[in-house]
Formats: sequence, structure tokens, C-alpha cells
Amino acid sequence: MAFKTPKKLVIGAIIAVTSVGGMAFAAGGGVMGDYKMKHPDWSFNGAFGTYDRAAAQRGYQVYREVCAACHSLKYVAFRHLGDEGAPFYLEDFPNPSDNPYVKNFAADWSVEDIDSETGDIIERTGIPADYFPPIFPNDAAARASNGGSLPPDLSSMVKARSNGADYLYNLLTAYDSPKPAGLEITPGLHWNPVMEGGKIAMANPLSDELVTYEPTEMMDYGELKLVDPPVATVEQMASDLTQFLAWTADPKLEQRKSIGLMTIIYLLILSVLLFFSYKRVWRNVEH
Ligand code: HEC
Repeated sequence: MAFKTPKKLVIGAIIAVTSVGGMAFAAGGGVMGDYKMKHPDWSFNGAFGTYDRAAAQRGYQVYREVCAACHSLKYVAFRHLGDEGAPFYLEDFPNPSDNPYVKNFAADWSVEDIDSETGDIIERTGIPADYFPPIFPNDAAARASNGGSLPPDLSSMVKARSNGADYLYNLLTAYDSPKPAGLEITPGLHWNPVMEGGKIAMANPLSDELVTYEPTEMMDYGELKLVDPPVATVEQMASDLTQFLAWTADPKLEQRKSIGLMTIIYLLILSVLLFFSYKRVWRNVEH
């Protein structure tokens, strides 16, 4: 007995040290000054997680009205917005190309195409099958408009950064946090504690009530309901954008989670059946 306690203590201490070390590492990735990472409780986390459709719809609005001035979304097609599991899916429109939201959003953009008769490059109105067009003609033009820095494509940003949903949310809400004394920010850069070195070329893109949220239409058990929008604070817009960009980065998340759940249920039923057939097969055998 006297020997067991120290052993347990040692093992406990090792676990404690490694997990505390892990936490410190997770929190320390690029975070500067006294900034503490915020960890919102995302609806899409966990085994049964789903996207918050109303939030993701508002997130699209913020992307369209604010971020799309600089950032492309080139791996997303307009029709994807109306797929099952997508923010603008409507049961009445199983083919997303007929979905009225999708048609309106596509028509809101102009895309480059080739005139099939003359071969000339033309601009035409977007259609559901188009992908979101580039914002700048090429990277050099994008850099030239952004003081030499390249605004990255946002389609898979939430997957591209570790803990991407939290990262994005914190990046967009941390601009106003106190700057450590003595940290020099050269012109053209902005203080942001979430970035490596505390500096980013993107100026704070959000400010309270920058966009005007409209009530969203939601299907609620077969009835169309108007959901009042929340106040468009910086935190609210950042959280809505995160829902939207989490979906663009992983549009099949809900499908995958429901397949996982069905598999577990199937295996449970199979185990019960196997158990009873085992009982039956061996019932007359002494053991
Ligand atoms: C005026 C142009 C502009 C607007 C508007 C803008 N950004 Fe940026 N963004 C940039 C530039 C430039 C960079 C590159 C910054 C750097 O490399 O320091 C960037 C970088 C980023 C990054 C990558 C940070 C990293 O980890 O490297 C994210 C994420 C991002 N922006 C999200 C957004 C979102 C979301 C919005 C809309 C709310 C938005 N941006 C609006 C110009 C813009």
C-alpha cells in the first residue's frame, strides 16, 4: 500500500503536467499580450452538431457586404448554398439551381465568361452553376490593392487554421484588445493579438451595426416562419460569419455525423442479435 500511493501520484503528476503543457501550447499559438482566446460553444461541434442555419445565412450577408470586397470564395458554387445541409436549403427545391435564394445570389454577381460565337472575354450575370468569381484579376492585383499583402481565399479558412472556428472568431473580435506597451506597429499593419507577432495587414473589417440584418425566413416543422435578427454587434457578425465559413469549409459535416450515428445504432442492434443467437445456439450445451 505504502508503495502504491507514490506511483499513482507520479502517474497523476505526469498526466497533469502533459495536459497543462498541452493547454498552454493550444492557448499560446501566436496569441500576444494579455489576450485570452474566447471559445464560443459552436452548434456544429460534438457528435450531433449541426450548423445554425439562420446564423449561417446572416454570415453570408456579412461575407457578401464586407469581406467580399477583398476575399474570394472560389471553391464554393452558388448552387452549393441550396444543397441539403446548406444555409439556404429549401425542401421545396430539391434541385438547388431552382432555389430562389440561389438564383438571386448568383444574379447579384457578375462573372467572366467567353462569348461562344466571337471567343471574346465577356462579363455576364452569374447563374447557379457558377463558382464565386475572383475578386481581383490575379494575385499581383490583389496585393497592389492591399498594400502588398494577399487576402487569402476564405472557402476553407476554418479548416486551414488549427481550431479554425475559434481562430476566425477571435481574429475578428480581438482588434480592440489592449496592445502591449512597446510593441511597434509599422504603418500599413494593424495590432491583432491573435496573429503571429501581433500584426496583420488587414484593418479591422467589422464595426457595430456595419450591416443591417433582415428577419430570416426559416422552415419550422413545415411552416415558414420569420425569425427576428439579433443586433449586428461585432461579436454577432463574427459568430455568424464563423457559422457560414465553417459550412463552406465542411459542407458535408451534418451528413457525416448522421451516418456515424446510424452506424452506431446498427452496430448496437447487431450486437444484441448476436448475443441472443449465441445464447440460442449454445442453450443445450453444458458449459
Ligand atoms: C480591405 C480588404 C479586406 C477586407 C474588407 C477584409 N479583409 Fe481579411 N484580409 C485582408 C488582407 C490584405 C489579409 C492578409 C493579412 C496579412 O497577411 O497580414 C487578410 C487576411 C485575412 C484572414 C487570414 C488571417 C491569417 O490567419 O492569415 C482572414 C481569416 C480574414 N482576412 C478574414 C476576413 C473576413 C471574415 C472579412 C470580413 C468580415 C475580411 N477578412 C475582410 C484584407 C481584407
